[in-house]
Amino acid sequence: QAAVDAAILLHTIIDVPGYPRPGIVFKDITPLLADPIALAKVVQAMADPFKGRIDKVAGIEARGFILAPLLAARLGTGFVPLRKAGKLPRATWSENYELEYGQATLEVHRDAFAPEENVLIVDDVLATGGTAAAALRLVERAGAVPSGFTALLDLGLLPGRGVLTGIHAHILHTLA
Ligand code: PRP
Repeated sequence: QAAVDAAILLHTIIDVPGYPRPGIVFKDITPLLADPIALAKVVQAMADPFKGRIDKVAGIEARGFILAPLLAARLGTGFVPLRKAGKLPRATWSENYELEYGQATLEVHRDAFAPEENVLIVDDVLATGGTAAAALRLVERAGAVPSGFTALLDLGLLPGRGVLTGIHAHILHTLA
């Protein structure tokens, strides 16, 4: 398993203070995605701990959608989108979660997973963990097993990683 040098992540993910709202520091991963060496290294480092243990890779809209199919291709599995409300065309399961201001909803097609499939959930950043927790509940609701979680960055907020208790979680870098 190749470890990713923290310097790669920290130099290719740009902090954007005040976006999308005052008081929020947005983590812009587009320079990382545009760098072929950094992209290859993070895909390898995110995927390889889960080799042979995963049946499907699920990505959280929107930035999890970019990374998850790359991981799925490396792991030899299919990809499932976990979408924001109202975007999937057929019957869905839904899970609500709290944002800093208000609520959001994640949805998945009811037939997205075979029963008891082991699912790796992928996102770019873990902040409060609310989105990740909703994704775990959604995979369970759909009859599969949320057995892994991976992301580029853990912002070190609460409860953050606490929502991943009992899950094989592999986050490339944690900010102090
Ligand atoms: C960001 C990020 C994670 C989530 C993490 O997405 O990509 O999905 O926030 O925050 P949390 O741990 O506090 O839940 P965002 O909600 O901004 O949605 P977007 O990808 O559609 O912009």
